Amino acid sequence: MSSEVGLQQMLEVAVSAAREAGALQKQRLWGDFTFSFKGEVDIVTEVDRACEEMIVNRIRSAFPGHSFLAEENLYADGDPAWRWIIDPLDGTTNYAHGFPWFCVSIALEREGELTLGVIYHCMMDELFTTTLGRGAFLNGAPIRVSSRAPLRQSLIATGFPYDAARGNENNFRNFFELQLAARGVRRAGAAALDLAYVAAGRLDGYWECKLKPWDVAAGALLVREAGGTVTNHMGEPHRIDDHRILATNGLIHDEIESLLERAGKAEPVL
Ligand code: IPD
Ligand code: CA
Ligand code: CA
Repeated sequence: MSSEVGLQQMLEVAVSAAREAGALQKQRLWGDFTFSFKGEVDIVTEVDRACEEMIVNRIRSAFPGHSFLAEENLYADGDPAWRWIIDPLDGTTNYAHGFPWFCVSIALEREGELTLGVIYHCMMDELFTTTLGRGAFLNGAPIRVSSRAPLRQSLIATGFPYDAARGNENNFRNFFELQLAARGVRRAGAAALDLAYVAAGRLDGYWECKLKPWDVAAGALLVREAGGTVTNHMGEPHRIDDHRILATNGLIHDEIESLLERAGKAEPVL
């Protein structure tokens, strides 16, 4: 089997896993489900766990030798050269409150390089897909980042860590600087969708801190393949284990980066 055929087949499996999990999310939203606390405010619902099981089982039955890094569990027994990075439900707080803004995010790394990404927003039936070097797509149609600049005319997004009230990095000072400089800043609560929206040109940029690989893996590849720029907050190429991300259309990247730098030198808020 050529590697092209292999990658296409992997994308198809990832898409069907994402659609299956999305269907479950839609079906159970606004119904009864249990949840438990991971931290003081950070929760996980039974739907998160059921979706993860569903996705891992589906991918595993197609590619039994692969390994997985999924938010709710580690399945490290497979070949580390093929690693699936999965957020079964990104936007759990929204989901648990019945706020219909959440998605499935699935990425595949080959030898440490992101090669495939799928983000599925079931409530809009929007499927974002990408494979390395082959562009980014929304429901099969090519997408590109926006060509909007400067920052004053741009709509950007961010999020705040679960431990913002106590942690050492709450993102508030960054938010203050960027809210003053941009046309608007949105905080919708699903990092993977923020990235998908940058890729689709619906947002011009996005930054956040204290993220995990499963929050950003698929979205970072999508933005790059849609012609955007993805770095950490210092402008260095973003690696999957970087906690800080800045993803933009490229045109407003330097402006945001210098404001983040200024915020980093200022007195923290709280
Ligand atoms: C969270 C969401 C949110 C971001 C948090 C993430 P979860 O993921 O992506 O937008 O601000 O940092 O942890 O817990 O809903 O999968
Ligand atoms: Ca997440
Ligand atoms: Ca999650």
